[in-house]
Amino acid sequence: MRLSNVDPALESCWQVVCRSNDLTSQPTAYALLGRHWVLWRTPSGTVAAFLDQCPHRLAPLSRGTCDHAGIIQCGYHGWRFDITGICVEIPALGPDAHLPGRAQLTAPHGVAESHGLVFLAIRPPSTPLPTVAVASDPTFQRGDLPVVTTSGAAGLFADNFLDVAHFPFVHAATFGAGEERTVPSYTLERDGYCFTASYEHLFANREDPGVDAGLRPLMQRRALTYRYTAPFHMELEITYLDAGGTNVIGFFIAPADADTVRVYSTLWRNDLGGSLEAMEQAVAFEVAVLDEDLAVQCSYRERSLPLDLTMELHTKADRTTVELRRILRDLIDGR
Ligand code: FES
Ligand SMILES: [Fe+2]
Repeated sequence: MRLSNVDPALESCWQVVCRSNDLTSQPTAYALLGRHWVLWRTPSGTVAAFLDQCPHRLAPLSRGTCDHAGIIQCGYHGWRFDITGICVEIPALGPDAHLPGRAQLTAPHGVAESHGLVFLAIRPPSTPLPTVAVASDPTFQRGDLPVVTTSGAAGLFADNFLDVAHFPFVHAATFGAGEERTVPSYTLERDGYCFTASYEHLFANREDPGVDAGLRPLMQRRALTYRYTAPFHMELEITYLDAGGTNVIGFFIAPADADTVRVYSTLWRNDLGGSLEAMEQAVAFEVAVLDEDLAVQCSYRERSLPLDLTMELHTKADRTTVELRRILRDLIDGR
């Protein structure tokens, strides 16, 4: 059994579809789970989201326009739909026409915003809406990586983000060269369709000016905490126990269609003293790290994640990624 980007079980989950600040008062189309959706921001600030298909001749509504009240007009024959998706005008029938009740847009079950992202649940979700605690903490600066659209499997991308044994090999050119190869034993706690895994280890902190100043040793303690929310939402919190400061990397994957994903990645840091330039550098470094991971992910010929644990070989260093497979399997089996 393998998980593809368009498995029907993924419709019963919150899925990231775009960033909050990508939306304007005019319609934009986004692919998600093999279908196209049209989204726009209404005058009251809420998000309108519907299947990108006019009920008349099935033209993409995203070619249309929205007026000052947020009413969308199809670009083909001018039918107009209010923000609840009800048709309010069919120009070809004149002003007093009786409008057919079936002239309605198809809405997903739910639309929500969390930590700067917009989520859709196409059917009633069995997974919780992901949240990032530091996103609302004013002591943290935020830096968004450019959105990456690439071929690949969302399950494999999630697997890679949660993997703790690849740093010295895949990331040798960025941060991995000085990393310990041995993965320390770590704790993992599952809670429904989520888990948290944590460990502490020593690493060479070459960026700490306190090392040259003789205040701290080169080898310092670092605590890593991974938080996972099914199906494809991940967060890694790194706390520098000696030098101080916390970095959070958020990684949210939208399965666009059977072969394509969009990757939304964001940094939150409390150790840059408010410097925009330092955040720009941090984002550029993270982009280089992500490129190293993408090169591995895009090389997979099979664009799906194995969920049958006998298909691969697992070790105790792979507990996070084994738990990912168990949770996704439970999700598909409706457990
Ligand atoms: S296809 Fe939309 S109004 Fe005709
Ligand atoms: Fe990586």
